[in-house]
Amino acid sequence: MAASQKTYRYKDQTFGSEREMVMHLLDDYRCVEGFAAQYLGAWKAISKEACVTGGLRTVCGREQLHADLLEARLRELGGTPQCKVPEERLAEMDYYGSEDHSDIEKLGKIASRLQEPEKVLQFLSQAIEQIDEDRDTRELLATILDDERSTIQWVLASWEDLKPQA
Ligand SMILES: [Fe+2]
Repeated sequence: MAASQKTYRYKDQTFGSEREMVMHLLDDYRCVEGFAAQYLGAWKAISKEACVTGGLRTVCGREQLHADLLEARLRELGGTPQCKVPEERLAEMDYYGSEDHSDIEKLGKIASRLQEPEKVLQFLSQAIEQIDEDRDTRELLATILDDERSTIQWVLASWEDLKPQA
């Protein structure tokens, strides 16, 4: 009987080796972060609430930094960027870049899907736990994870401050 082969999971995909998972993760996450930097940047450019603008400066900067670091690591490992933003997510660009929606509405929309930070970040923390050989990528991702926690904390705290009082 063949020895059971260890498998690796990222989001809803299974991989036969750590390297395969790492290469896919770096490309997928790079793409997601680059897109986040774009639509949050479009929002920042038209935001009216000074405290939203200020926070978005850091948040956007971080997302772009993550995209750049992930791409650099992907290339270092011999990969090339391939993932594209799914069609259905492109609407977010229109939404966040539109003045038809207030800063408060946009903040509320993001806050509503970030209520449970560790659950939201599980796709990343679970992948990190599976990385054993590539310590370099592992710590790159672990330190990005810390940034993501800071971003979520800012979104939730700002929403608490700015949300319409019942
Ligand atoms: Fe991010």
